Amino acid sequence: MNETKEELPKDFGLLLPKIIASPPGPLSRDFITRLAATECPAITARRARRQHETGVNQDPIVWTHALGANIRDADGNIYVDLSAAFAVSGLGHRHPRVAQAAHSQVDRMIHAMGDVFPSDVKIEFSEKLAQIAPGDLQESILGLSGADAIGAALKTAAIHTGKSGVIAFWNGYHGLGHGALSVTAYRKSFREPFLSQLGRDVFHVPYPNPARPPFGLQGAAPETIRDAVLTHIRSMLSEPATGAEGIGAIIIEPILGRGGEVVPPEGFLQGLREIADEFSLVLIFDEIFTGFGRTGKTFACEWEGVLPDILCVGKALGGGFPLSAAIGRPHIMRSWGTSSGESVHTSTFLGNPLGCAMGLAFLEEFKEGDWANRAQKLGEMMYQDLSTLRSPSISDIRGRGAMLGVEFIKSDGSPDGARGLQICSELLAKGFICLPSGAWGHVLGLSPPFVLSEEQWKSFFHTLQNCIEKADLSR
Ligand SMILES: Cc1ncc(COP(=O)(O)O)c(C=O)c1O
Repeated sequence: MNETKEELPKDFGLLLPKIIASPPGPLSRDFITRLAATECPAITARRARRQHETGVNQDPIVWTHALGANIRDADGNIYVDLSAAFAVSGLGHRHPRVAQAAHSQVDRMIHAMGDVFPSDVKIEFSEKLAQIAPGDLQESILGLSGADAIGAALKTAAIHTGKSGVIAFWNGYHGLGHGALSVTAYRKSFREPFLSQLGRDVFHVPYPNPARPPFGLQGAAPETIRDAVLTHIRSMLSEPATGAEGIGAIIIEPILGRGGEVVPPEGFLQGLREIADEFSLVLIFDEIFTGFGRTGKTFACEWEGVLPDILCVGKALGGGFPLSAAIGRPHIMRSWGTSSGESVHTSTFLGNPLGCAMGLAFLEEFKEGDWANRAQKLGEMMYQDLSTLRSPSISDIRGRGAMLGVEFIKSDGSPDGARGLQICSELLAKGFICLPSGAWGHVLGLSPPFVLSEEQWKSFFHTLQNCIEKADLSR
């Protein structure tokens, strides 16, 4: 890396896009050529391969700097990030308080011995997490990735109930490690080659998506969709033919993230809570995407006042450092019992001091800075503008707080994945970073850093309007 901090433009973080080399510029492309030589094509290089199929250069840009809502790439282009880099950087990239905590921790200790000799900062972080977690969710298992937290939650539920079966939802994305992948039902291609390695007791049921409801309920009221899915789950659990006696847990994203910013009908989470209580199941909420202000409250489950038995968090939690947790109610977490000598669930980097120092600073800043409120205000402005969009290709604008989606359809009403991808690449060319979401990639997902300025948003919104108008003309 040759670039120095001093070469960044003044006000980097608050800038509008500045494209000097059409992305991906030559330096990004050089980097990707090098990457393709050493990285498994399952990851980045796969996108370069798509070029051969589509004729369009889909090499990624290569990031070199990030601050606030801005990204700079290897070619010196400046972007505005509308994704918070997978919904991680809610407080803005490289928040000064989190960065300062990282520097101080690096000067003191980077690595400790997770469960054997934990660090002081891991303990402080765990206490803070318990303070912020709702209700009696107090005891956690830390991890590095979201998938780690999901794996820990599923294991805990199995230990507590003695049953390994799980109810999970279509279009749910919980990560791709084997435990998480067994409950993920986002894309068939993610699971298919590994089916025989995955947990077999997973029962996937439809997510109550008001825009694309299951059971032929197109056009039905949200309550009807809600009740239909709840009734389906209830009958499944009551019917011996389904093998439901082996089910010990329900796992759900309170709002689908990668699955397309889908908000379930009001009362659905409460309905799941009642089912979990009636059938003695552990209710797991995956708030890895929605947690820490993203939806305008600290946790999305607060919108419905429903508490899970285990809450999975990650993404934003480490302020950019890989850090996650499954936080559970004490009587459930204590089902693990006291370990006899060796931990039965641990990993080398569990509670890594650097991550915990950054996570602690993140949690302190999150609380003191009233960030959930800030996300809500930003989201209101975004929603107000988005709802003025008029296009035959837009079928739905939805989401909550600063987690919004614009759904694209073809003229026959089917999901338009090509449109989602096309809009995202055109936005990138103009200096705005967004990701498509939804099973077909047919939703423009918006999950910006909460520090996104009004000027940056308006500039994005006008660009989006132009991209949509242009795409409609060529329809
Ligand atoms: C809701 C949800 N759960 C779990 C995960 C997996 O997290 P990770 O990629 O850190 O394993 C994601 C990632 O996008 C997610 O959105």
